[in-house]
Amino acid sequence: MSEKPANPVRKALFTDEFVQDPYPTYRRLLEEGPLHFVDVGGGMWGIWAVFSHAVCSAVAKDPRLSAKRIDRMLVTLPMDRQGEFNELVRMLGMWMIFIDPPEHTRMRKLMNKGFTPSATEALRPQVEKVVDRILDPLAHISQADLVNELAYPMPVRVISELLGVPETMENAFLHWSAAIAEFNGSPGRTVEHAQNAQNAVLALTDFFRRAVAERRRNKGNDLISLLIDIEEEGEVLTEEELYAQCVMLLFAGHETTRNLIASGIYSLLREPEKMAELRENPALIRTAVEEFLRFESPIQYTARVAMEDITLCGVRIPKRQPILCMLGAANRDPKQFKDPDTLNLNRLNNQHLAFSAGPHFCIGSQLARMEGQVAILKIVQRFPKMRLAQRAEWTPNFGFRGLKSLPVEFGQ
Ligand code: HEM
Repeated sequence: MSEKPANPVRKALFTDEFVQDPYPTYRRLLEEGPLHFVDVGGGMWGIWAVFSHAVCSAVAKDPRLSAKRIDRMLVTLPMDRQGEFNELVRMLGMWMIFIDPPEHTRMRKLMNKGFTPSATEALRPQVEKVVDRILDPLAHISQADLVNELAYPMPVRVISELLGVPETMENAFLHWSAAIAEFNGSPGRTVEHAQNAQNAVLALTDFFRRAVAERRRNKGNDLISLLIDIEEEGEVLTEEELYAQCVMLLFAGHETTRNLIASGIYSLLREPEKMAELRENPALIRTAVEEFLRFESPIQYTARVAMEDITLCGVRIPKRQPILCMLGAANRDPKQFKDPDTLNLNRLNNQHLAFSAGPHFCIGSQLARMEGQVAILKIVQRFPKMRLAQRAEWTPNFGFRGLKSLPVEFGQ
Protein backbone atom coordinates (compact mmCIF):
# COMPACT_ATOMS: atom_id res chain seq x y z
CA MET A 1 0.00 0.00 0.00
CA SER A 2 1.54 3.33 -0.98
CA GLU A 3 0.57 6.46 0.95
CA LYS A 4 3.09 8.96 -0.40
CA PRO A 5 2.60 10.74 -3.71
CA ALA A 6 3.13 7.82 -6.04
CA ASN A 7 4.10 8.94 -9.48
CA PRO A 8 5.00 5.36 -10.41
CA VAL A 9 1.34 4.38 -10.00
CA ARG A 10 0.21 7.30 -12.14
CA LYS A 11 2.80 6.45 -14.79
CA ALA A 12 1.78 2.79 -14.77
CA LEU A 13 -1.89 3.63 -15.19
CA PHE A 14 -2.07 6.41 -17.75
CA THR A 15 -0.05 5.09 -20.68
CA ASP A 16 -1.00 3.81 -24.13
CA GLU A 17 0.60 0.50 -23.29
CA PHE A 18 -1.60 0.22 -20.19
CA VAL A 19 -4.78 0.85 -22.19
CA GLN A 20 -3.86 -1.86 -24.70
CA ASP A 21 -3.42 -4.41 -21.87
CA PRO A 22 -4.17 -3.14 -18.35
CA TYR A 23 -4.30 -6.55 -16.67
CA PRO A 24 -0.62 -7.16 -15.81
CA THR A 25 -0.53 -3.69 -14.18
CA TYR A 26 -3.73 -4.33 -12.25
CA ARG A 27 -2.34 -7.65 -11.03
CA ARG A 28 0.99 -6.15 -9.98
CA LEU A 29 -0.66 -3.28 -8.09
CA LEU A 30 -3.15 -5.61 -6.44
CA GLU A 31 -0.31 -7.85 -5.28
CA GLU A 32 1.23 -4.76 -3.61
CA GLY A 33 -2.07 -3.94 -1.87
CA PRO A 34 -5.76 -3.20 -2.51
CA LEU A 35 -5.43 0.60 -2.18
CA HIS A 36 -3.01 3.02 -3.86
CA PHE A 37 -2.58 6.77 -3.91
CA VAL A 38 -2.37 8.18 -7.44
CA ASP A 39 -0.73 11.56 -7.68
CA VAL A 40 -2.59 13.19 -10.57
CA GLY A 41 -1.59 16.81 -10.10
CA GLY A 42 2.17 16.97 -9.73
CA GLY A 43 1.97 16.36 -5.98
CA MET A 44 -0.75 19.01 -5.64
CA TRP A 45 -3.68 16.67 -5.39
CA GLY A 46 -4.46 13.03 -5.88
CA ILE A 47 -6.98 10.27 -5.88
CA TRP A 48 -7.17 6.89 -4.21
CA ALA A 49 -7.62 3.82 -6.35
CA VAL A 50 -8.98 0.50 -5.11
CA PHE A 51 -8.04 -2.66 -7.00
CA SER A 52 -9.55 -5.57 -5.05
CA HIS A 53 -13.03 -7.01 -5.55
CA ALA A 54 -13.94 -6.98 -1.86
CA VAL A 55 -12.90 -3.35 -1.26
CA CYS A 56 -14.39 -2.03 -4.55
CA SER A 57 -17.69 -3.65 -3.65
CA ALA A 58 -17.58 -2.14 -0.13
CA VAL A 59 -16.67 1.33 -1.46
CA ALA A 60 -19.53 1.34 -3.98
CA LYS A 61 -21.98 0.61 -1.13
CA ASP A 62 -20.46 2.88 1.55
CA PRO A 63 -22.95 5.60 2.65
CA ARG A 64 -20.07 7.81 3.86
CA LEU A 65 -19.04 8.23 0.25
CA SER A 66 -20.80 10.49 -2.21
CA ALA A 67 -21.45 9.98 -5.92
CA LYS A 68 -21.31 13.77 -6.44
CA ARG A 69 -18.03 14.24 -8.18
CA ILE A 70 -18.53 16.39 -11.22
CA ASP A 71 -16.82 19.51 -9.86
CA ARG A 72 -13.74 17.34 -9.16
CA MET A 73 -13.60 16.51 -12.85
CA LEU A 74 -12.33 19.97 -13.74
CA VAL A 75 -9.32 20.06 -11.43
CA THR A 76 -6.84 19.23 -14.19
CA LEU A 77 -7.90 22.38 -16.08
CA PRO A 78 -6.14 25.71 -15.47
CA MET A 79 -7.88 27.49 -12.57
CA ASP A 80 -8.70 30.55 -14.70
CA ARG A 81 -10.51 28.39 -17.28
CA GLN A 82 -12.62 26.22 -14.97
CA GLY A 83 -15.40 28.84 -14.70
CA GLU A 84 -16.13 28.48 -18.42
CA PHE A 85 -17.58 25.06 -17.71
CA ASN A 86 -20.10 25.87 -15.00
CA GLU A 87 -22.91 24.83 -17.32
CA LEU A 88 -21.32 21.43 -17.96
CA VAL A 89 -20.89 20.86 -14.21
CA ARG A 90 -24.46 21.97 -13.52
CA MET A 91 -25.98 19.74 -16.17
CA LEU A 92 -23.96 16.59 -15.53
CA GLY A 93 -24.51 17.18 -11.82
CA MET A 94 -28.23 16.48 -12.36
CA TRP A 95 -27.61 12.97 -13.78
CA MET A 96 -28.98 10.33 -11.45
CA ILE A 97 -25.61 8.59 -11.41
CA PHE A 98 -24.06 11.68 -9.80
CA ILE A 99 -26.58 12.34 -7.03
CA ASP A 100 -26.95 10.91 -3.52
CA PRO A 101 -29.81 9.62 -1.37
CA PRO A 102 -32.43 10.65 -0.47
CA GLU A 103 -32.96 12.41 -3.86
CA HIS A 104 -31.33 9.51 -5.64
CA THR A 105 -33.53 6.93 -3.88
CA ARG A 106 -36.74 8.72 -4.88
CA MET A 107 -35.68 9.16 -8.47
CA ARG A 108 -34.36 5.61 -8.79
CA LYS A 109 -37.58 4.10 -7.46
CA LEU A 110 -39.60 5.82 -10.15
CA MET A 111 -37.09 5.22 -12.96
CA ASN A 112 -37.00 1.50 -12.11
CA LYS A 113 -40.48 1.25 -13.63
CA GLY A 114 -38.96 1.66 -17.08
CA PHE A 115 -36.37 -1.08 -16.49
CA THR A 116 -38.20 -4.00 -14.84
CA PRO A 117 -37.13 -7.47 -16.05
CA SER A 118 -40.48 -7.90 -17.80
CA ALA A 119 -40.29 -4.47 -19.49
CA THR A 120 -36.81 -5.39 -20.73
CA GLU A 121 -37.70 -8.92 -21.84
CA ALA A 122 -40.65 -7.52 -23.79
CA LEU A 123 -38.11 -5.63 -25.91
CA ARG A 124 -36.24 -8.77 -27.00
CA PRO A 125 -38.14 -9.25 -30.31
CA GLN A 126 -37.58 -5.57 -31.15
CA VAL A 127 -33.85 -5.91 -30.41
CA GLU A 128 -33.68 -9.08 -32.53
CA LYS A 129 -35.20 -7.17 -35.43
CA VAL A 130 -32.68 -4.34 -35.04
CA VAL A 131 -29.79 -6.84 -35.08
CA ASP A 132 -31.17 -8.76 -38.09
CA ARG A 133 -31.60 -5.54 -40.00
CA ILE A 134 -27.97 -4.66 -39.30
CA LEU A 135 -26.61 -8.16 -40.05
CA ASP A 136 -28.62 -8.90 -43.24
CA PRO A 137 -26.44 -6.75 -45.56
CA LEU A 138 -23.27 -8.36 -44.15
CA ALA A 139 -24.32 -11.69 -45.72
CA HIS A 140 -23.19 -10.35 -49.09
CA ILE A 141 -19.71 -9.12 -48.24
CA SER A 142 -16.47 -10.87 -47.37
CA GLN A 143 -15.10 -8.60 -44.68
CA ALA A 144 -16.22 -5.82 -42.36
CA ASP A 145 -15.32 -3.78 -39.32
CA LEU A 146 -17.77 -5.02 -36.67
CA VAL A 147 -17.36 -1.91 -34.54
CA ASN A 148 -18.65 0.23 -37.40
CA GLU A 149 -21.14 -2.24 -38.79
CA LEU A 150 -22.69 -3.72 -35.63
CA ALA A 151 -21.45 -2.57 -32.23
CA TYR A 152 -21.66 1.14 -33.00
CA PRO A 153 -25.09 1.38 -34.69
CA MET A 154 -26.98 -1.24 -32.66
CA PRO A 155 -27.25 0.02 -29.05
CA VAL A 156 -27.85 3.59 -30.18
CA ARG A 157 -30.75 2.31 -32.32
CA VAL A 158 -32.19 0.44 -29.34
CA ILE A 159 -31.93 3.30 -26.86
CA SER A 160 -33.25 5.75 -29.49
CA GLU A 161 -36.27 3.49 -29.98
CA LEU A 162 -36.76 3.33 -26.21
CA LEU A 163 -36.58 7.08 -25.96
CA GLY A 164 -38.74 7.38 -29.07
CA VAL A 165 -36.29 9.56 -31.03
CA PRO A 166 -35.80 9.38 -34.81
CA GLU A 167 -33.09 7.40 -36.59
CA THR A 168 -32.02 10.55 -38.44
CA MET A 169 -30.53 11.91 -35.20
CA GLU A 170 -28.27 8.93 -34.56
CA ASN A 171 -25.08 10.21 -36.19
CA ALA A 172 -25.33 13.41 -34.19
CA PHE A 173 -25.99 11.38 -31.01
CA LEU A 174 -22.92 9.22 -31.62
CA HIS A 175 -20.76 12.28 -32.12
CA TRP A 176 -22.03 13.99 -28.93
CA SER A 177 -21.81 10.79 -26.93
CA ALA A 178 -18.14 10.33 -27.94
CA ALA A 179 -17.34 13.85 -26.69
CA ILE A 180 -18.92 13.12 -23.29
CA ALA A 181 -17.12 9.77 -23.05
CA GLU A 182 -13.77 11.40 -23.79
CA PHE A 183 -14.34 13.92 -21.02
CA ASN A 184 -15.64 11.40 -18.47
CA GLY A 185 -13.04 8.75 -19.19
CA SER A 186 -9.86 10.88 -19.29
CA PRO A 187 -8.25 11.62 -15.91
CA GLY A 188 -5.98 14.22 -17.58
CA ARG A 189 -8.93 16.23 -18.88
CA THR A 190 -8.06 19.29 -20.99
CA VAL A 191 -9.93 22.49 -21.81
CA GLU A 192 -10.68 20.98 -25.21
CA HIS A 193 -12.26 17.87 -23.64
CA ALA A 194 -14.42 20.07 -21.42
CA GLN A 195 -15.37 22.37 -24.29
CA ASN A 196 -16.44 19.48 -26.53
CA ALA A 197 -18.38 17.81 -23.70
CA GLN A 198 -20.13 21.06 -22.80
CA ASN A 199 -21.14 21.66 -26.44
CA ALA A 200 -22.42 18.07 -26.65
CA VAL A 201 -24.46 18.30 -23.45
CA LEU A 202 -25.96 21.63 -24.51
CA ALA A 203 -26.89 20.27 -27.95
CA LEU A 204 -28.43 17.11 -26.48
CA THR A 205 -30.36 19.09 -23.88
CA ASP A 206 -31.70 21.31 -26.62
CA PHE A 207 -32.79 18.27 -28.58
CA PHE A 208 -34.57 16.73 -25.60
CA ARG A 209 -36.21 20.03 -24.65
CA ARG A 210 -38.03 19.93 -27.98
CA ALA A 211 -38.66 16.17 -27.83
CA VAL A 212 -40.22 16.47 -24.36
CA ALA A 213 -42.49 19.35 -25.43
CA GLU A 214 -43.71 17.28 -28.32
CA ARG A 215 -44.17 14.13 -26.23
CA ARG A 216 -46.18 16.02 -23.64
CA ARG A 217 -48.80 16.57 -26.31
CA ASN A 218 -48.68 12.95 -27.40
CA LYS A 219 -47.51 10.57 -24.68
CA GLY A 220 -46.54 7.02 -25.59
CA ASN A 221 -45.00 3.91 -24.13
CA ASP A 222 -41.42 5.19 -24.20
CA LEU A 223 -38.91 6.28 -21.58
CA ILE A 224 -39.41 10.00 -22.24
CA SER A 225 -43.12 9.59 -21.49
CA LEU A 226 -42.25 7.73 -18.26
CA LEU A 227 -39.92 10.56 -17.24
CA ILE A 228 -42.63 13.12 -18.04
CA ASP A 229 -45.02 11.21 -15.76
CA ILE A 230 -42.39 11.32 -13.01
CA GLU A 231 -41.89 15.04 -13.52
CA GLU A 232 -45.63 15.69 -13.53
CA GLU A 233 -46.01 13.82 -10.23
CA GLY A 234 -43.97 16.70 -8.79
CA GLU A 235 -41.23 16.78 -6.14
CA VAL A 236 -38.89 14.30 -7.78
CA LEU A 237 -37.83 15.78 -11.13
CA THR A 238 -37.81 19.36 -12.32
CA GLU A 239 -38.10 20.11 -16.01
CA GLU A 240 -34.33 20.59 -16.35
CA GLU A 241 -33.59 17.41 -14.41
CA LEU A 242 -35.90 15.59 -16.78
CA TYR A 243 -33.79 16.68 -19.79
CA ALA A 244 -30.65 15.70 -17.89
CA GLN A 245 -31.93 12.13 -17.34
CA CYS A 246 -32.74 11.83 -21.06
CA VAL A 247 -29.20 12.87 -21.96
CA MET A 248 -27.80 10.45 -19.37
CA LEU A 249 -29.88 7.52 -20.64
CA LEU A 250 -28.90 8.13 -24.22
CA PHE A 251 -25.24 8.27 -23.25
CA ALA A 252 -25.25 5.39 -20.74
CA GLY A 253 -27.39 3.19 -22.97
CA HIS A 254 -25.05 3.38 -25.91
CA GLU A 255 -21.46 4.07 -24.91
CA THR A 256 -21.14 0.96 -22.74
CA THR A 257 -23.25 -1.66 -24.52
CA ARG A 258 -21.45 -1.19 -27.79
CA ASN A 259 -18.18 -2.00 -26.04
CA LEU A 260 -19.65 -5.14 -24.49
CA ILE A 261 -20.70 -6.36 -27.94
CA ALA A 262 -17.41 -5.62 -29.71
CA SER A 263 -15.19 -6.91 -26.89
CA GLY A 264 -17.30 -10.04 -26.47
CA ILE A 265 -16.97 -10.91 -30.15
CA TYR A 266 -13.24 -10.08 -30.03
CA SER A 267 -12.71 -12.40 -27.07
CA LEU A 268 -14.36 -15.21 -29.03
CA LEU A 269 -12.42 -14.50 -32.21
CA ARG A 270 -9.18 -14.82 -30.29
CA GLU A 271 -10.24 -18.26 -29.06
CA PRO A 272 -12.12 -19.88 -31.96
CA GLU A 273 -12.70 -23.13 -30.04
CA LYS A 274 -14.78 -21.13 -27.52
CA MET A 275 -16.70 -19.52 -30.36
CA ALA A 276 -17.44 -23.05 -31.67
CA GLU A 277 -18.51 -24.12 -28.16
CA LEU A 278 -21.04 -21.27 -28.04
CA ARG A 279 -22.30 -22.01 -31.55
CA GLU A 280 -22.89 -25.62 -30.63
CA ASN A 281 -24.50 -24.77 -27.30
CA PRO A 282 -26.39 -21.46 -27.66
CA ALA A 283 -27.84 -21.81 -24.14
CA LEU A 284 -24.36 -20.81 -22.96
CA ILE A 285 -24.97 -17.25 -24.10
CA ARG A 286 -26.20 -16.10 -20.67
CA THR A 287 -23.11 -17.17 -18.73
CA ALA A 288 -20.96 -16.16 -21.71
CA VAL A 289 -22.21 -12.55 -21.59
CA GLU A 290 -21.55 -12.38 -17.83
CA GLU A 291 -18.04 -13.57 -18.58
CA PHE A 292 -17.52 -10.97 -21.34
CA LEU A 293 -18.63 -8.30 -18.85
CA ARG A 294 -16.11 -9.57 -16.31
CA PHE A 295 -13.27 -10.24 -18.75
CA GLU A 296 -13.24 -6.88 -20.58
CA SER A 297 -15.39 -4.62 -18.43
CA PRO A 298 -16.80 -1.78 -20.55
CA ILE A 299 -16.50 0.63 -17.60
CA GLN A 300 -13.08 0.23 -16.02
CA TYR A 301 -13.69 2.42 -13.01
CA THR A 302 -16.27 4.44 -11.15
CA ALA A 303 -15.65 7.02 -8.43
CA ARG A 304 -16.87 8.26 -5.08
CA VAL A 305 -15.86 11.20 -2.88
CA ALA A 306 -15.33 10.96 0.90
CA MET A 307 -17.96 13.09 2.70
CA GLU A 308 -15.99 12.80 5.97
CA ASP A 309 -12.53 11.58 6.96
CA ILE A 310 -12.61 7.82 6.63
CA THR A 311 -10.25 4.90 7.15
CA LEU A 312 -9.99 2.45 4.31
CA CYS A 313 -7.66 -0.57 4.36
CA GLY A 314 -5.95 1.01 7.37
CA VAL A 315 -5.27 4.30 5.56
CA ARG A 316 -6.84 7.62 6.58
CA ILE A 317 -8.51 9.30 3.63
CA PRO A 318 -9.38 12.94 4.23
CA LYS A 319 -12.78 14.44 3.49
CA ARG A 320 -13.32 15.47 -0.17
CA GLN A 321 -10.74 13.09 -1.58
CA PRO A 322 -11.94 11.01 -4.54
CA ILE A 323 -11.71 7.23 -4.52
CA LEU A 324 -11.73 5.21 -7.73
CA CYS A 325 -13.23 1.73 -7.73
CA MET A 326 -11.17 -0.02 -10.39
CA LEU A 327 -13.93 -2.33 -11.61
CA GLY A 328 -11.78 -3.79 -14.39
CA ALA A 329 -9.12 -4.77 -11.85
CA ALA A 330 -11.65 -6.11 -9.33
CA ASN A 331 -13.06 -8.33 -12.07
CA ARG A 332 -9.66 -10.02 -12.44
CA ASP A 333 -9.04 -10.40 -8.69
CA PRO A 334 -7.78 -13.96 -8.06
CA LYS A 335 -9.25 -13.90 -4.55
CA GLN A 336 -12.71 -13.65 -6.10
CA PHE A 337 -12.33 -15.50 -9.42
CA LYS A 338 -10.61 -18.80 -10.14
CA ASP A 339 -8.22 -18.40 -13.10
CA PRO A 340 -9.25 -14.76 -13.57
CA ASP A 341 -7.29 -14.32 -16.81
CA THR A 342 -9.04 -17.24 -18.48
CA LEU A 343 -12.22 -16.67 -20.46
CA ASN A 344 -14.61 -19.31 -19.16
CA LEU A 345 -17.98 -19.24 -20.91
CA ASN A 346 -19.36 -21.68 -18.32
CA ARG A 347 -18.26 -19.68 -15.27
CA LEU A 348 -20.83 -19.99 -12.49
CA ASN A 349 -21.47 -17.66 -9.55
CA ASN A 350 -19.83 -14.88 -11.58
CA GLN A 351 -20.16 -11.99 -9.12
CA HIS A 352 -18.46 -9.46 -11.38
CA LEU A 353 -18.67 -5.73 -10.71
CA ALA A 354 -19.07 -4.60 -14.32
CA PHE A 355 -22.37 -2.94 -13.35
CA SER A 356 -20.92 -1.73 -10.01
CA ALA A 357 -22.75 -2.39 -6.72
CA GLY A 358 -24.87 -0.57 -4.15
CA PRO A 359 -27.45 2.13 -4.80
CA HIS A 360 -26.03 3.11 -8.21
CA PHE A 361 -25.93 -0.45 -9.56
CA CYS A 362 -26.61 -0.07 -13.29
CA ILE A 363 -30.31 0.42 -13.91
CA GLY A 364 -29.89 -0.75 -17.52
CA SER A 365 -28.05 -3.98 -16.66
CA GLN A 366 -30.85 -6.28 -17.86
CA LEU A 367 -31.21 -4.34 -21.09
CA ALA A 368 -27.45 -4.39 -21.71
CA ARG A 369 -27.30 -8.13 -21.01
CA MET A 370 -30.18 -8.83 -23.36
CA GLU A 371 -28.67 -6.69 -26.15
CA GLY A 372 -25.32 -8.43 -25.70
CA GLN A 373 -26.93 -11.88 -25.77
CA VAL A 374 -28.92 -11.16 -28.94
CA ALA A 375 -26.13 -9.45 -30.90
CA ILE A 376 -23.32 -11.84 -30.01
CA LEU A 377 -25.32 -15.04 -30.46
CA LYS A 378 -26.75 -13.93 -33.78
CA ILE A 379 -23.40 -13.03 -35.30
CA VAL A 380 -21.79 -16.24 -34.06
CA GLN A 381 -24.61 -18.32 -35.53
CA ARG A 382 -24.99 -16.47 -38.80
CA PHE A 383 -21.28 -16.35 -39.69
CA PRO A 384 -19.78 -19.73 -38.76
CA LYS A 385 -16.56 -19.11 -40.71
CA MET A 386 -15.93 -15.64 -39.32
CA ARG A 387 -12.35 -14.94 -38.24
CA LEU A 388 -10.21 -12.04 -37.13
CA ALA A 389 -8.68 -10.19 -40.11
CA GLN A 390 -6.07 -8.38 -38.05
CA ARG A 391 -5.26 -7.56 -34.44
CA ALA A 392 -7.72 -5.08 -32.96
CA GLU A 393 -6.67 -1.95 -31.07
CA TRP A 394 -8.27 -0.48 -27.94
CA THR A 395 -9.44 3.14 -27.82
CA PRO A 396 -7.11 5.26 -25.66
CA ASN A 397 -9.68 5.90 -22.93
CA PHE A 398 -8.91 5.07 -19.30
CA GLY A 399 -12.55 4.75 -18.20
CA PHE A 400 -14.45 3.25 -21.14
CA ARG A 401 -12.80 0.11 -22.48
CA GLY A 402 -13.72 -0.37 -26.11
CA LEU A 403 -12.20 -1.34 -29.44
CA LYS A 404 -11.35 1.23 -32.10
CA SER A 405 -12.21 -1.28 -34.80
CA LEU A 406 -12.80 -5.01 -35.18
CA PRO A 407 -11.85 -6.14 -38.70
CA VAL A 408 -13.19 -9.59 -39.55
CA GLU A 409 -13.38 -11.87 -42.60
CA PHE A 410 -16.60 -13.81 -42.99
CA GLY A 411 -15.10 -16.61 -45.12
CA GLN A 412 -18.22 -16.68 -47.35
C1 HEM B 1 -22.64 -3.24 -20.89
C2 HEM B 1 -23.35 -2.18 -20.66
C3 HEM B 1 -23.32 -1.37 -19.41
C4 HEM B 1 -22.38 -1.29 -18.43
C5 HEM B 1 -21.07 -2.05 -18.32
C6 HEM B 1 -22.86 -0.33 -17.46
C7 HEM B 1 -22.19 -0.02 -16.29
C8 HEM B 1 -22.68 0.82 -15.32
C9 HEM B 1 -22.01 1.10 -14.07
C10 HEM B 1 -20.65 0.55 -13.66
C11 HEM B 1 -22.82 1.92 -13.34
C12 HEM B 1 -22.65 2.39 -11.92
C13 HEM B 1 -21.66 3.47 -11.71
C14 HEM B 1 -21.46 3.76 -10.26
O1 HEM B 1 -21.62 2.92 -9.37
O2 HEM B 1 -21.05 4.89 -10.00
C15 HEM B 1 -23.97 2.20 -14.16
C16 HEM B 1 -25.01 3.02 -13.80
C17 HEM B 1 -26.04 3.37 -14.65
N1 HEM B 1 -26.30 2.84 -15.89
FE1 HEM B 1 -25.25 1.41 -16.83
N2 HEM B 1 -24.06 0.16 -17.88
C18 HEM B 1 -24.39 -0.45 -19.05
C19 HEM B 1 -25.55 -0.26 -19.79
C20 HEM B 1 -26.53 0.62 -19.49
C21 HEM B 1 -27.75 0.82 -20.24
C22 HEM B 1 -28.14 0.03 -21.48
C23 HEM B 1 -28.44 1.82 -19.62
C24 HEM B 1 -29.76 2.45 -19.95
C25 HEM B 1 -30.41 2.41 -21.03
C26 HEM B 1 -27.67 2.23 -18.47
C27 HEM B 1 -28.04 3.22 -17.59
C28 HEM B 1 -27.41 3.46 -16.40
C29 HEM B 1 -27.89 4.44 -15.43
C30 HEM B 1 -29.09 5.35 -15.59
C31 HEM B 1 -27.03 4.37 -14.33
C32 HEM B 1 -27.12 5.18 -13.05
C33 HEM B 1 -27.88 4.40 -12.03
C34 HEM B 1 -27.97 5.09 -10.70
O3 HEM B 1 -27.22 6.03 -10.45
O4 HEM B 1 -28.84 4.70 -9.91
N3 HEM B 1 -26.53 1.48 -18.41
N4 HEM B 1 -23.87 1.50 -15.36
